[in-house]
Amino acid sequence: MVNRILNREWIEPRIRDLGFQEFHWLEEVDSTNDYAKRWMAASDGQALQMLIATGNQTAGRGRGTNTWWSPEGCLTFSILWKPDRLGMEFSQVMERLPQVALITGIAMAKSIDLWTSIPSRIKWPNDLYIAGKKVGGILVESAGNAWVIGVGLNVFSPIDQAPEEVQERATSMHYWSNREPSMSDLLTQCCELWLSEMENWLSDSNYLYRAWPERCFLSGELCEFQTAQQSIQGRCQGIDPWGRLLLVDASAKQHALSTGTVRIVS
Ligand code: BTN
Repeated sequence: MVNRILNREWIEPRIRDLGFQEFHWLEEVDSTNDYAKRWMAASDGQALQMLIATGNQTAGRGRGTNTWWSPEGCLTFSILWKPDRLGMEFSQVMERLPQVALITGIAMAKSIDLWTSIPSRIKWPNDLYIAGKKVGGILVESAGNAWVIGVGLNVFSPIDQAPEEVQERATSMHYWSNREPSMSDLLTQCCELWLSEMENWLSDSNYLYRAWPERCFLSGELCEFQTAQQSIQGRCQGIDPWGRLLLVDASAKQHALSTGTVRIVS
């Protein structure tokens, strides 16, 4: 049972060694992303590199208007990261936010793979999949000129107790694991891999483009891309160097798509 609980005393020094100045472990919070945004606002934009984690998230949010089911056994955390040292303007912080979401996906997929017997994939832009089922989600937002990187992983989540629509399409890491996952190890690994993947991406503009194909859940699939204005059907060819989803339609026209939702048609 000890593996199933975040051990604050064990995690804190490791997180600080990784360069995070603040670690907030919360007994209960509405949403770790919202907490990070409130912290950023209250600190007058002087946010640090910070990790927020909780064992009890009461109003977890997903993309758009979706909610994120956060039962006991779900690892929920947010990283508040201000890319100051990179000398980025606010507009660059915003421009690069979608790519940060994709890089976070790669880091989380690598972290999941340390514990499971089959490799995880990413359904563009930010859903983590094992064996065709969703095992985690990522929600990257901005707070002033900082990124808020929210991650939810179904580590031990009791999928059979989830709302019906979640039960149909979700799975847990524990179900596919080689060995009992440890929440504390996993959280530390997620942060470590996130920092190293960010470093890879920041030092090599082609890194994301090269790393994506191995992880892409949609490659080769016939997909439907939906925005408020349009719906496009096409076969997925991965992403372009800017992280946009590539679909090739029936008339061989390639579409590079950035804001919308995508689903596999067949
Ligand atoms: C999605 O699947 O649409 C994204 C889910 C992201 C959930 C995480 S849990 C931690 C952080 N806080 C939130 O309110 N959401 C993210």
